[in-house]
Formats: sequence, structure tokens, C-alpha cells
Amino acid sequence: MDLNGKKIVLGLTGGIACYKAAELTRALTKAGASVQVVMTSAATQFITPVTMQALSGKAVYLDQWDDRIANHMPHIDLTRDVDAILIAPCSADFIFKLAHGACDDLLSTLCLARPGNLPLLVAPAMNAEMWNNPATQRNITQLQLDQIPILGPDAGVQACGETGMGRMLEPEQLLEEVIALFQPKLLAGQHVLVTAGPTFEAIDPVRGITNHSSGKMGYAVARAAQQAGAHVTLVSGPTTLQAPYGVQLIPVETGRQMHDAVMSHIAAQDVFIAVAAVADWYVSNISTQKLKKNADGNHMCALQFAENPDILASVAALSPAPYCVGFAAESENLLQYGAEKRIKKGIPLLVGNIGPQTFGQDDNTLVLFDEHGHTNLPRASKQLLAQQLIAEIAKRV
Ligand code: C5P
Repeated sequence: MDLNGKKIVLGLTGGIACYKAAELTRALTKAGASVQVVMTSAATQFITPVTMQALSGKAVYLDQWDDRIANHMPHIDLTRDVDAILIAPCSADFIFKLAHGACDDLLSTLCLARPGNLPLLVAPAMNAEMWNNPATQRNITQLQLDQIPILGPDAGVQACGETGMGRMLEPEQLLEEVIALFQPKLLAGQHVLVTAGPTFEAIDPVRGITNHSSGKMGYAVARAAQQAGAHVTLVSGPTTLQAPYGVQLIPVETGRQMHDAVMSHIAAQDVFIAVAAVADWYVSNISTQKLKKNADGNHMCALQFAENPDILASVAALSPAPYCVGFAAESENLLQYGAEKRIKKGIPLLVGNIGPQTFGQDDNTLVLFDEHGHTNLPRASKQLLAQQLIAEIAKRV
């Protein structure tokens, strides 16, 4: 689990987005975190401490003078031996308090009393006019100067009926931000392009040729690179997956579209990771109409094929080329075929896996081939393997 053993203080301030804090608490605890909820008095107008206690499994703290902490120092006790404080939702008033060092309730006091190295994350939520107000923007600038990450807000329809900036990020987006906080920034500022998923080569308007690739490994690699601090572009064939948070998704269908999308974005890239299972061939005589059984008295129509461009080889041949990583799904002789394929493709790193055992699964086993030989990454979740792969790439770029 991504947040195993992490202790998070979740602070709620007054705003209708408090309803999302319930789901956020579930998401954080499901990811393995232990969540201590602290609420301002205004937050209790929007959601009850009973709900937050039930979801976090811990008594909620509301008051600096809470008798449950014998020494009456909850601002100290609650901020020692924890891994992060997340304020979600964070109201305009609470942003003001943080920017000015105010401490007139438990939550603001514990933020001020936190150790200097304890991360404080802020997820603003308010009406768009309140967000755009120069006073709020001044306070946000101050928080940024104080190295406090501001998560969101998003634009869209608001609870008040108006539209604009100020919606709190969704719970799963905040979860991704918290997970990313704990990942080492091994690729900070690097530009990484990942291909993922299958391609779909049309035969006629309703049929086509594709493969069993689910996209899970490629999406996991894109997510791990993003969490390692990279700017990530993901060129993906058709999958049922949601783009990882913070990643630029370019959806494509065919091998040639994937090639063109990669080539038009490659100049800015430091690393190219080709995870996609690209069809080797496309149908060159695509029928404009649905092919009919027995058309012209024939039972079969003859499909003609032409070769798809090899995207990885094209990128590796560029000068200068980004650091290129290929994937190979083999059904046998992985060690021999993997080593040979790395050289044939002209790339420094090739990742091998046994095709039929990986397609659609959440787990995988990888073998990394480089100029020194091969290294095994034992069976684990695709997300963990993706993090290990990113760490290996970071050592080499
Ligand atoms: O040659 P093979 O298809 O086995 O090579 C697999 C590797 O090459 C993968 O990294 C895949 O994404 C990439 N590839 C590509 N363009 C193709 C075929 C494969 O980028 N047309």
C-alpha cells in the first residue's frame, strides 16, 4: 500500500467541500495511512465529528483545551511523530491565518507549532470571487514563499451555483498528491514521454486488430515518473484506464497515430519509455463500409498489410536522442531474446517480461537488460515495479 505506516493529520476548515473530506479519509486509510482528524468549529457546521471519527477510526480533535490530552498541549502532541499535515478543505480565512501565523484555535496553533521539517499541504476550497480576491492571492503567494504546497484548486461549477476557480481537488487527486509527497524526486524537472496500451488497427468501420495489453504497466510507469517529479506525457492506445493525476494524456488509436504523436513531442524529452504493445502491421486496404459475409459470393475478403513504423527504433535513431527504454513481452527464452532485442533496437535499457503472464494482471516480474547484463525485479505490483524501474532509469540519466 502506497501510504503504509504514514501518519497524517487531516485538518478540516469551514466549507461545503468538507463533504469530500469523508471520502478523502477513506482513501487515505485504504492506502495504509493512519489519519488523525482535527476540525475547526466552522468545519463542524458542514460535517459532524462523528462521521470523521467513524471513518478515521480515531477520536477527532476540535479544541485546544481538550481534556483528553493530559498536558493540554494537543498542538504539540498531535504534530510530533507524524509525517504530514493536510488541510482539506482550506478556507480563505484559514489561508489568511497560515500566511500571518495566527493561532487562535487548535488547528491553526498546531500548524504554527509544527516542526520545521514537517510538510504542510493546503487544498483551498472557496467561492471563485473569494479565490480571485487580491487579498487571498496575496496570502497564497505568502504560503508559496513559505514552501507550503498549494494543491489546486480546480475550476468548475461551485456549490453556490457560480462557476470558476475554487473547487477543492477530488479526494483521489489529493490522495495522489500525498503519495507523491513521500516519493523521492529522482527525476525532478525531467521530461518523460511514455507510450502505453495496445493499438487498434481498423479492418472496416466496425472491426479491427488489437491485442491483450491493458495499459496497466505503462500507466504505472507514467504515474511513478510523475511522482518522481518529472513532467510526463503519456501517449496511449485505447484502454479503460484513467490517466494518472498530473500526467498529460494524448489518446491515440493506431500505430501510425502513436508514432506521429510521439515524434511531435519528442524534442523536449529527456527520457522515452516505450511500454505500448504496438501492432507490427496495419491493414492497408481498410474497407470504408462494413465487410459483408458472402459479399460478391466470396466467404473471405483478402486483407492486405503494411508494416507500422517502429516508434522506439525511430526515437533511438534521433540525434540527439532521449534516454530510451524499451519493453519486450516474450513467451519463451526471455534472457536470450531480451539481450538481443536491446542491441537490435539500439537502446541502453530494455525491460523484459513474460507476455502471457503480464497482460491485464496487477502484478508482474521484470528483467532489466543493459550493457552490463541483466537484473531481475522479482514479482510485485506493477506500481511498485514501476517505481523500481524509475529508480533504475534515474541512476542512468
Ligand atoms: O520488436 P518488439 O515489438 O518486440 O519491441 C517491443 C518494444 O518496441 C516495446 O518497447 C514497444 O513499445 C516498441 N515498439 C515500438 N513501435 C513498434 C513496435 C514496438 O515502439 N512499431
